[in-house]
Amino acid sequence: MSTILIAYGTTEGHTRSICERIAEWLHELGYSAELLDTQDAEENMALAGFDGFIVAGSLHQTQHQIALERFVSRNAADLAARPSLFLSSSLTASGKDDEHQAEARKCIEEFCKVTKWQPTEAFPIAGALLYSRYDWLKKAMMRFIVARNGGDTDDSRDYVYTDWDELRSIVERFAQVHLGTVQLSASQTQ
Ligand SMILES: Cc1cc2nc3c(=O)[nH]c(=O)nc-3n(C[C@H](O)[C@H](O)[C@H](O)COP(=O)(O)O)c2cc1C
Repeated sequence: MSTILIAYGTTEGHTRSICERIAEWLHELGYSAELLDTQDAEENMALAGFDGFIVAGSLHQTQHQIALERFVSRNAADLAARPSLFLSSSLTASGKDDEHQAEARKCIEEFCKVTKWQPTEAFPIAGALLYSRYDWLKKAMMRFIVARNGGDTDDSRDYVYTDWDELRSIVERFAQVHLGTVQLSASQTQ
């Protein structure tokens, strides 16, 4: 059975939720998936046993998590040896127009340049505005930034902009094209 490593960086937890869903979808397709919060990654973790990689992080002040950056820099050669998918979650990516998409892609390119890693595929993914997880300062700052862009300023609730159907097709297509034949699990073949 092919085993996929899903390595992520997260600050408020939304990218972790994204990765947990991806792991469920991969399991349904018959792959084995292992989740790794890069904050907990050991320095000399062996990646040679994995058949593919999904790497995900989110933008804060236009940067991805430093733990993710370090993990990818450290393992760039191993990551490049197998098919890989990079997902960058952000509020910028929730803007569907060319300008926002180009801005989100620029942050991906910067990450790849800094880490010296070229993923097989990379996509900006609309993230979330999780007011309930921000302290008062972060909440005030986010409300201010979001208001300037005409976004959702009611901080009594959270907003998730991730298009789960679109994300699922990105993951399934990546698996089908780059990870070989989709393997059906025992329950699916009965
Ligand atoms: C303090 C802060 C700074 C952020 N900075 C950016 C940014 O520079 N660009 C952007 O597109 N989104 C930005 N975001 C939005 C996050 O990328 C988005 O909420 C993402 O879904 C968070 O994922 P996480 O919970 O996995 O960290 C910011 C969010 C916070 C709370």
